[in-house]
Amino acid sequence: MLRPCGIKGQKRKKREERYDKEEDEVEAEEQSIERAKRAMVEEKEMAMETSGKEEEELEGQTHEMAGIPIVPSDLKTKKPGLIFVLERASLEVAKVGKSYQILNSDDHANFLRKNNKNPADYRPDIVYQALLSILDSPVNKAGRLRAVYVKTDKGVLFEVKPHVRIPRTYKRFAGIMLQLLQQLSITAVGKREKLLRVIKNPVTQYLPVNSRKIGFSYSSEKLVKMNKYVAAVSDDVDIVFVVGAMALGKIDCDYIDDFIAISGYPLSAAWCISRICEAVADKWDVL
Ligand SMILES: C[S@@+](CC[C@H](N)C(=O)[O-])C[C@H]1O[C@@H](n2cnc3c(N)ncnc32)[C@H](O)[C@@H]1O
Repeated sequence: MLRPCGIKGQKRKKREERYDKEEDEVEAEEQSIERAKRAMVEEKEMAMETSGKEEEELEGQTHEMAGIPIVPSDLKTKKPGLIFVLERASLEVAKVGKSYQILNSDDHANFLRKNNKNPADYRPDIVYQALLSILDSPVNKAGRLRAVYVKTDKGVLFEVKPHVRIPRTYKRFAGIMLQLLQQLSITAVGKREKLLRVIKNPVTQYLPVNSRKIGFSYSSEKLVKMNKYVAAVSDDVDIVFVVGAMALGKIDCDYIDDFIAISGYPLSAAWCISRICEAVADKWDVL
């Protein structure tokens, strides 16, 4: 059996038991945030003591990361915006050897097989590339991205603020995700703002009421030209795009207004998102 993630210290056992109980785990969000803050202070102290040592053991852990940088964008625009929901992201934490890590098919294939899991299902690189594609897009730089929500395969929902600068390497990204899933939020460097935070399900409570919610799948029978499709959406509403961040299977959401395919070929999530962002940029004259 995989050992799911836990919070450090005396409460670890309790957190481990609770982790797999889906939404239940974010119920005590306030208390958890306090615990996370204390843990971060402890971890910073520990990082100073251990710096330069035990590099392998620290791999995948998060001591050095007090926060991640933010990037400027044309914020606070009143114009309609876009929101992304990434469904079924593969972000599962387990204790591998001595440290907690985000499981992936490259580094943990043997571990996964020993635990009767299919390594092909463990692809956190998909959500990494998807987030890079969204946050690096010109529409985000133009201040039109309202929010990104990620739901993991285990049902944990978290929000990513549009001005977050996602780490440029997967390894550092995995460290941030580990920190987020263990401590429930990540703050900006030198600030108190939460750039990433675990939030309660369902995601629908955060979506604007009058928004248009569009789901994406290669297997949808409605194959559209994305530019034309987006051009036809009313100029007054926010648009929510729901894309799968898993390797196999199809998104299954009950809150979608329309379900479309945008290519006759199966695309990576990152490519699908690029096509969406380009179509929206075209509609809103973002160059
Ligand atoms: C790596 S793919 C997942 C593959 C999965 N077999 C599927 O087709 O849904 C990630 C996501 O990209 C989106 N996607 C991929 N190809 C697409 C297409 N041709 N049209 C619309 N969305 C697509 C879907 O949301 C999909 O869940």
